[in-house]
Amino acid sequence: MASRLLALFLMLISLGQGTLNQYEREMSLGGTLFLVNRDFVLSSDYKPDDLVNPDVKLTYPDTTMRKEAAEALERMFLVAKEEAGHTLIGVSGYRSYGQQASIFERKVANVGKKKAMLLVAPPGASEHQLGLAMDLGTPKNQKLNEAFGDTQAGAWVRENCHRFGFIIRYKEEWTDITGYADEPWHVRYVGEEHVQRIYEMDIPLEYYIDTLRQAQYDQLTEER
Ligand code: DAL
Ligand code: ZN
Repeated sequence: MASRLLALFLMLISLGQGTLNQYEREMSLGGTLFLVNRDFVLSSDYKPDDLVNPDVKLTYPDTTMRKEAAEALERMFLVAKEEAGHTLIGVSGYRSYGQQASIFERKVANVGKKKAMLLVAPPGASEHQLGLAMDLGTPKNQKLNEAFGDTQAGAWVRENCHRFGFIIRYKEEWTDITGYADEPWHVRYVGEEHVQRIYEMDIPLEYYIDTLRQAQYDQLTEER
């Protein structure tokens, strides 16, 4: 709790006009802090213009991410190997609106709509369309299931992904807010400055964006 308050305090004192503009850019489409969920959806034609192949082990060779996120992923995979001996594998990165629609429809057909909604984002509502998310696996398990969280590699990712600008986006205790079940394999790139605060505050991205907007609003109304 103390670290949450400290993180919030540090954010409030850093909010000069320059910072405000910078945060606004980061929260806009194309920024690394853009919020996507079932309430804030992307248009069917949105596709980032800086997708690249991360130079890491991949399940499918055509897997891509936005450049900044891909470079951070490369650093994370290297350190996971060097520091802890873990081999990570990129299983699913950027997905177009159409690909997400197919995955969602398949899941609905297999498990029914109610359960599918907890597991897969409907088209337009997935961070994968932003090119800022990657689903991770290990050489033994690339199935994107909860078992990943129980592996040593999964535990390493949970404890260390923030060092590279990534958050664990969906945790079990946040299901009511995010709309999704626990996904220890799904990491979302948010950039190095924000990741530190989100990690220390231990809150879902929805709450962090609210906090940022509230801090901006408070500062703007104080300045009037
Ligand atoms: N599984 C996550 C929620 C997605 O489909 O984007
Ligand atoms: Zn994912």
